[in-house]
Amino acid sequence: MDIVLSGIRSTGKLHLGNYYGALRNFIRMQEKNKCYFFIADIHSLTTHPDPKMLHENVKNVLVDYLAAGIDPEKSVIYVQSDLHETAELYLYLNMHVGIGELMRTASFKDKARQQLHIDRMNTEEGDVEREIFNENNKNSVNSGLLTYPVLMAADILIHNADKVPVGKDQEQHLEMTRRFARRFNYFYGVEYFKEPVAYNFGEELVKIPGLDGSGKMGKSEGNAIYLSDSPKEIEKKVKKALTDAGPTEPDSVKPDYIENLFTILRVVSSPEVVQYYDEQWNSCAIRYGELKKQLAEDIIKVTAPIRERILDIEKDDAYLRKVTLEGAEKARESARKTINAVREIVGFKPF
Ligand code: TRP
Repeated sequence: MDIVLSGIRSTGKLHLGNYYGALRNFIRMQEKNKCYFFIADIHSLTTHPDPKMLHENVKNVLVDYLAAGIDPEKSVIYVQSDLHETAELYLYLNMHVGIGELMRTASFKDKARQQLHIDRMNTEEGDVEREIFNENNKNSVNSGLLTYPVLMAADILIHNADKVPVGKDQEQHLEMTRRFARRFNYFYGVEYFKEPVAYNFGEELVKIPGLDGSGKMGKSEGNAIYLSDSPKEIEKKVKKALTDAGPTEPDSVKPDYIENLFTILRVVSSPEVVQYYDEQWNSCAIRYGELKKQLAEDIIKVTAPIRERILDIEKDDAYLRKVTLEGAEKARESARKTINAVREIVGFKPF
């Protein structure tokens, strides 16, 4: 069986985008693979260190995982910070990673820019790099953010995973994982680490757009429908989605914010429903109120059973404790093997 590994950062509750972009595939993969699904709470520290929220955030993702259908009998579910071996491997990998290659990572540059509120358009590359290392700036960028891809590589390599289900935004990180694995093998003259590949059932991943006409659905963007939202909240959010006066020419191209509503409709509704609204649009007869009502209804159909399970599971502390303890134990079994081998390869020896 192939080893599959993936994780989601615990920075908030999971939304429809996480469900269609990740969770739904995780659930399908657990049937035919040896799966590890973890909650990336250490990664959350790179941008959201908040001791008061940390545990709650981990719990939210854990509950959402279980409610969506990740089955602890089939998959290993664990919390990243419970597996100390990952941190140890991260340390050893760091010795073979260049500062330059980390600074060139797209996600690092983006985050660093956001954190520094530097207008991307108006800044020369050199200015950004000077600002990043300005220690007097209270938003100065921490080295955890810089080495984020190394920690992610450690997550993957600690179980020597074959396949990693990730979205497009993580492809560069996965490429770096492969490079770090190759480099480790080459440096020490071994063939220990495998080079993991991205894995999405060979289909295009569905990217769920936000409801505000801007980019993708995201926790921080304030445009998300959460799996735990009540039917009322969902109706309210969908009702508020951006629309306009409607098309005036038959068969016109849909503007982004309307196309976004159709994208979600295609995911949650039946082909007949989609076809009906496409025809309504093309003949300029579309009524957005009707479309939104249908959209909300079909989103609720998908999320309601998950939400019901969320409400049950989140009350069951004994169950959550059992899942995380057993998950950590199983994860540790696999991680110990790796770390013992790596320590030997690196040259550590007992006296
Ligand atoms: N970086 C991923 C994200 O932001 C989360 C993550 C951390 C991850 N470690 C991982 C994903 C290992 C896959 C494998 O979405």
